[in-house]
Amino acid sequence: MEILVATEKPFVQIAIRQIREVTEAAGFKLALLENYKNISELLVAVSNADALIVRSDIVSAEVLDAAKNLKIVVRAGSGFDNLDLESCTAHNVVAMNTPGQNSNAVAELAFEMMLYHIRGGFSGKSGTELRDKTIGLHAFGNVGKYVADIAQGFGMNIYAYDPFVSERVMKDNGAKQCFNIDELYLKCQYISIHMPCNDITKNSISYDLMKKMPQNAVLVNTARKELIDETGLLKIFEERSDFSYLSDIEPNCKAIFEEKHKGRFIFTTKKMGAQTEESNINAGVAAARQIVEYFKTGEEKYRLSR
Ligand code: 3PG
Repeated sequence: MEILVATEKPFVQIAIRQIREVTEAAGFKLALLENYKNISELLVAVSNADALIVRSDIVSAEVLDAAKNLKIVVRAGSGFDNLDLESCTAHNVVAMNTPGQNSNAVAELAFEMMLYHIRGGFSGKSGTELRDKTIGLHAFGNVGKYVADIAQGFGMNIYAYDPFVSERVMKDNGAKQCFNIDELYLKCQYISIHMPCNDITKNSISYDLMKKMPQNAVLVNTARKELIDETGLLKIFEERSDFSYLSDIEPNCKAIFEEKHKGRFIFTTKKMGAQTEESNINAGVAAARQIVEYFKTGEEKYRLSR
């Protein structure tokens, strides 16, 4: 049995060593395709794989067609918008993710970007502080909870909106519940987005929503760039010089920001929320263990495909 790790953005080597230990201790062979530049390399590599571990790598019908022996694919991470779940089902391939394993890294990045930004990029210019400011968590899953935890340390006032999470859970994690999305954006100077990207949430951060944010608004996006209505974002930037956008990945309209809005944004060049040793180890090893368990016992916790 072969487990293939196929990552266009590789795991750190210590994570690979630990994935190998889990795989080989269970009697499976580990194959690696790291840093690949072209889908054709992936199509060749998957042809012998019984199981596949990926990060944000696209697992499309084309990839699944080429993976004749594939029984399971695990996205080492939370967001699974890169997996074609319908095709997985059609190909009899079980798809899973590893929720929560890289959440702390993503939450820390949200603060790293906020702190760097409000101190003027460490330029020596006078900045501002987080204490006593309001932060709104748009969705309160694993990452949202870690952000709330850190925000408490900074002495921030924390609000959250998530239709799937109870007031009790928010309260237990230090956040006050907002009953609708408008309330969150009206109340909070800082908004940190932590929802999945799907057909319902795509482009849902609209001009009307962003417009509600108070003076010196800072919108932080460590989720997916597709959640933001970029036309609306550009409009807000034209209208409000007090509005900032910090994003873990460049928006499509990056060139316009660079030309017209210097100092009011931070964009990472490559998505790096989960790019820490700890989260690579956590997510990679969890993925390997889930595959081993699936083959040995049929365990299907975190199954996404039906
Ligand atoms: C996730 O959805 O888990 C994060 O966005 C991490 O993605 P990555 O593994 O591609 O860095």
